[in-house]
Amino acid sequence: MDDIVSLAKRRGFIYPGSEIYGGIAGFWDYGPLGVELKNNIKREWWKSMVYERDDVVGIDAAIIMNPKVWEASGHTTAFTDPLIECKLCHSRFRADKKDEIEFHSSSPHIIEGETRSKDWVREHIEWTEPKKFNLLTEVFLGVTEPKQKAYLRGEITQGVFVNFKNVVSSSRKKIPFGIAQVGKAFRNEITPGNFTYRSREFEQMELEYFVKPDEKGSQSTFEYWKEQRMNWYKSLGIDAKNLRFREHTPDERAHYARFAVDIEYNAPFGWSEFEGIHHRGDWDLSRHKLTYKDPESNQEFTPWVIETSGGVDRSLLFFLLDAYKKEKDRSILKIHPKLSPYKVAVFPLLANKPELVTKAQDVYNELKSSFFTAWDDRGNIGKRYYSQDEIGTPFCVTIDYVTLEDDTVTVRDRDTMKQERVGISKVKTYLKSKLTV
Ligand code: GAP
Repeated sequence: MDDIVSLAKRRGFIYPGSEIYGGIAGFWDYGPLGVELKNNIKREWWKSMVYERDDVVGIDAAIIMNPKVWEASGHTTAFTDPLIECKLCHSRFRADKKDEIEFHSSSPHIIEGETRSKDWVREHIEWTEPKKFNLLTEVFLGVTEPKQKAYLRGEITQGVFVNFKNVVSSSRKKIPFGIAQVGKAFRNEITPGNFTYRSREFEQMELEYFVKPDEKGSQSTFEYWKEQRMNWYKSLGIDAKNLRFREHTPDERAHYARFAVDIEYNAPFGWSEFEGIHHRGDWDLSRHKLTYKDPESNQEFTPWVIETSGGVDRSLLFFLLDAYKKEKDRSILKIHPKLSPYKVAVFPLLANKPELVTKAQDVYNELKSSFFTAWDDRGNIGKRYYSQDEIGTPFCVTIDYVTLEDDTVTVRDRDTMKQERVGISKVKTYLKSKLTV
């Protein structure tokens, strides 16, 4: 984890939010490589959930909605975590995070300027009774006092439900069908932590899939989406042994869920939620008093909803963790080529030989019209390979003296480190065939 946090900052994936002012807990900024990786994850998700299907359409709803939405959905009352406070130092924790409480209960404390040992803390610690803490983030709008209270959305989901009728009538989709969305959500988390894992601002990628209100049919749709989502992570290279399903116990289910299963990742801080698959039943549409009229039978009913809800930031963190390997002489991000920020890097063998640089620039200009391409002419070739391996660039193309004679270049594969000579006129096709594997 420490290696990833350091790599993320050093190489421009993720920076602490507002760092020059001391940071702000639970907020992160994505750098030049981070934004590419994030966009690639979202693009792959959209491709598999919308473009490759006939039964799903996308939307992009507003972050701030009429507060009545959150009253109807139950979030103003039930979107809570149990909060407890350490009576010694007044730090606040989630009562259901036993490991964090255990750690705090046996850590030294500074009380009124005096350091108390962990043994002393263990003996004297007391906690307040859990109380419900609402996670919605309030904002205040308008120019006259009192300003209108609204909320930053706590899940992107409600934007889909409130537009259900609009989408049905404008897209003419018939049940079963789904609405996909990717966007920011905000939660006033009690204890943000584990790098970006639990943030206060994060992005979700969600599908709300509407089905007939039928126990057996909805159950098989639930199973179908569970498998689809698990396979998506595997298809993008996450090691299957680091993935598992975990069913929610009744006491941990969200207020809207009839039942729920998480896809979990074996993170350095323990098995952790990647994505939730929820059977939301008719909770949301009935709360918003929305129904569906079957165009053939004219039958009117409240559809049930199967939801897949993944986190973009968590995916990004887990893709990084899973791809990062340390070999004898190099650190390597063996990330799937579809996700890697750069697809290829181009180097002139020597930066002070104009004939090599000009030729390399021609290759670079040609490749960058098709792939996000890096240029590197600093240091020696070994250092450039090291640097590209560390950020996951799948291929490096070197222009050397042989190139000037026969118009071939060296293409080096990140994972195998094997090098092949390829004609300049064929490099693009060569890379295209390799990158779509
Ligand atoms: N609409 C359903 C929903 O929001 P959730 O299980 O609360 O369900 C879904 O959240 C996903 O959103 C999680 O699996 C996780 O990937 C991401 N997520 C939730 N809270 C997060 C946080 N504080 N920081 C980063 N990602 C978060």
